[in-house]
Amino acid sequence: MSLTPPRRYWLTGASSGIGAALAEEILKTGAHLAVSSRSTAPLKVLSQRYPGQVLVVAGDLTNSQTVREIGEQIAEQWGSLDTVILNAGTCEYVDAQQFDASIIEHVVRTNLLASAYCVEAALPLLRAGIAPHLVGVASSVTYLPLPRAEAYGASKAGLRYMFESLRIDLADEGIEVTVVSPGFVDTPLTAKNDFPMPLSWPVEKAARHIFAKLDNRPLEIAFPALFMAALWPLSKMPNSVKLAIGKRMVRSNPPIQDVP
Ligand SMILES: NC(=O)c1ccc[n+]([C@@H]2O[C@H](COP(=O)([O-])OP(=O)(O)OC[C@H]3O[C@@H](n4cnc5c(N)ncnc54)[C@H](OP(=O)(O)O)[C@@H]3O)[C@@H](O)[C@H]2O)c1
Repeated sequence: MSLTPPRRYWLTGASSGIGAALAEEILKTGAHLAVSSRSTAPLKVLSQRYPGQVLVVAGDLTNSQTVREIGEQIAEQWGSLDTVILNAGTCEYVDAQQFDASIIEHVVRTNLLASAYCVEAALPLLRAGIAPHLVGVASSVTYLPLPRAEAYGASKAGLRYMFESLRIDLADEGIEVTVVSPGFVDTPLTAKNDFPMPLSWPVEKAARHIFAKLDNRPLEIAFPALFMAALWPLSKMPNSVKLAIGKRMVRSNPPIQDVP
């Protein structure tokens, strides 16, 4: 029998997609997992399937007070956290012809500000944890400016910078920081996409890959390798080349129908 206490995780966005699949990977190891999302039903199902392992801390993470209360709940129940995976996020596309700043506001609020609230709640708990690890799910979108991605790309670029900067500032405290940069993964979020998703991975494969890599505390987990092999050199090209690539990805407007 192992004398090591089970590792304690907090995972956001655990109700769906990558987060839901990652929750399974974590719980299969016998670890303890605090799970957040706005919808509570899938979180409750997890807690029934893994009795004694799951702490349901549901709520809207764009509300800073809600996140503070989630932090207090975890502190009361566990007193510390060993790994925090900030995965909750959303994506909305922008139509530059009718630029609507409220889309930027909503996406940045969900992907960046909510993550900042979670970092604030998580850090005191991580400081009390064992071999603490802070993980943020960004996106490969940050490698190349893409059409219609003004909101999503800005939010994920901000998230990446926040985590990479935190990595420096937390190093002396022994809190390690990993950024996850998925390519395309088949989830309810990407099911809405109306464009081809090259080299897209099934969600279980993505979750297995992320979880297996986390052990070694890499600075970044970027996948699929083939997608990254194509994207990485493009990200190093001059801005004029990036502009030309982006322009090729802009789809033409739907054909104007003849008026009878
Ligand atoms: N799928 C991809 O191809 C891909 C690629 C790159 C990066 N990513 C990133 O991976 C992460 C997971 O994406 P996914 O594809 O798995 O999407 P998903 O299936 O839509 O899952 C998103 C999760 O975030 C939660 N969430 C969203 N807004 C929230 C809020 N305000 N408060 C609390 N929870 C909230 C959702 O739960 P509720 O709706 O119940 O709140 C859900 O559990 C995101 O950060 C996404 O940007 C995905």
